[in-house]
Amino acid sequence: MLYDQITDYFQQRYDEAPSLIVQAPGRVNLIGEHTDYNDGFVLPMAIDRAVWIALRPRADRRVQVYSPTFGENLSFSLDHLRQNEEVKEGWGEYLKGVAWAMQEAGHELRGWEGIVVGDVPIGAGLSSSAALELATARAFAALSGILWDAPQMALLGQRAENQWVGVNCGIMDQMISATGQPGHALLIDCRSLESESVPLPSGNTVVVLDTATRRGLVGSAYNERRAQCEAAAHFFGVPALRDVSLEQFAAQAEELDEVTRRRARHIITENERTLHAAEAMRRQDAEMLGHLMDESHRSLRDDFEVSSPELNTMVDLARQHEGCYGARMTGAGFGGCAVALLRAENAPTFASRVIRQYEEATGLMPTVYLCQAAEGASIIVQSDKM
Ligand code: GLA
Repeated sequence: MLYDQITDYFQQRYDEAPSLIVQAPGRVNLIGEHTDYNDGFVLPMAIDRAVWIALRPRADRRVQVYSPTFGENLSFSLDHLRQNEEVKEGWGEYLKGVAWAMQEAGHELRGWEGIVVGDVPIGAGLSSSAALELATARAFAALSGILWDAPQMALLGQRAENQWVGVNCGIMDQMISATGQPGHALLIDCRSLESESVPLPSGNTVVVLDTATRRGLVGSAYNERRAQCEAAAHFFGVPALRDVSLEQFAAQAEELDEVTRRRARHIITENERTLHAAEAMRRQDAEMLGHLMDESHRSLRDDFEVSSPELNTMVDLARQHEGCYGARMTGAGFGGCAVALLRAENAPTFASRVIRQYEEATGLMPTVYLCQAAEGASIIVQSDKM
């Protein structure tokens, strides 16, 4: 239990109970992949794995944090925020980046000291970085008396990631970590940042399948896909591919070069699939949701070309199993995780069978997570000592 872990660490280090404990979750995306930076639709859910921060206020403007996960201390002043040029993506940079983005937005922040722990697997594509960003924002906001506006805070988290850490992500991960709801996925319009919660079909489990592969080149391929999407939007004369209908695409696609055409086709059809998936969920139609997830995987594999042999193997194995409605790669791609929708009663045998079959096929040892849809960034404990 992260609650017990973090309160024990805090007690040992500071010889008292924390004044504030906050958490923010990781996420898995059910459908709507690479659509966020095209102003489109995504359908992720927050998962029951999160980053927690426990703290007490300081009288000065310093922040001092210990991470037992990394066995590292971090100490910085809110008046002299400087990037660490050597470890640009170290955990401390996410904390500093969020402090920077919040101050840039005009918020007055207070200093604090405390502990950060988490159980979102790092680098697996389950958004451990968004979880850390939103936990940090939640902590600063509660401590400094700043009104919690979840979409605005998600934007600040994204700004920290884009401009401080230097990762060019869209808004999906921060939005779902900020606004997730238990038992529900969220249909997010990445242009307006409006969202609607849609219930998971009852009697089903969402299973995350980690392929145990990580791809170093995700960043450059991701930026290349973004550029190709922008070029396609420019060709159609619209601000983003969100604005191109299937009919308009069909009428003009011939004039596009082959690669750009396939990239655009993925985004335009994926937006449609995501809206249909939300409708299917409102009707509790697991069959249709699963079917759309399968189609999404094919489109990501063949048109957008962001899957990998291991992800394809994992998805194929999952699909062969009884009770599996659909499966697809999830997140940026090239490695990391797949997600499957499964009848709940089949989950235990599914996990052991898929682990064994994937290991036989690839020689890699996968990890399977049965996930619950969890709450977004929240305050767990707040004492009146603050
Ligand atoms: C990563 C990014 C998100 C999104 C997905 C692909 O997770 O952080 O913004 O673009 O890839 O859907």
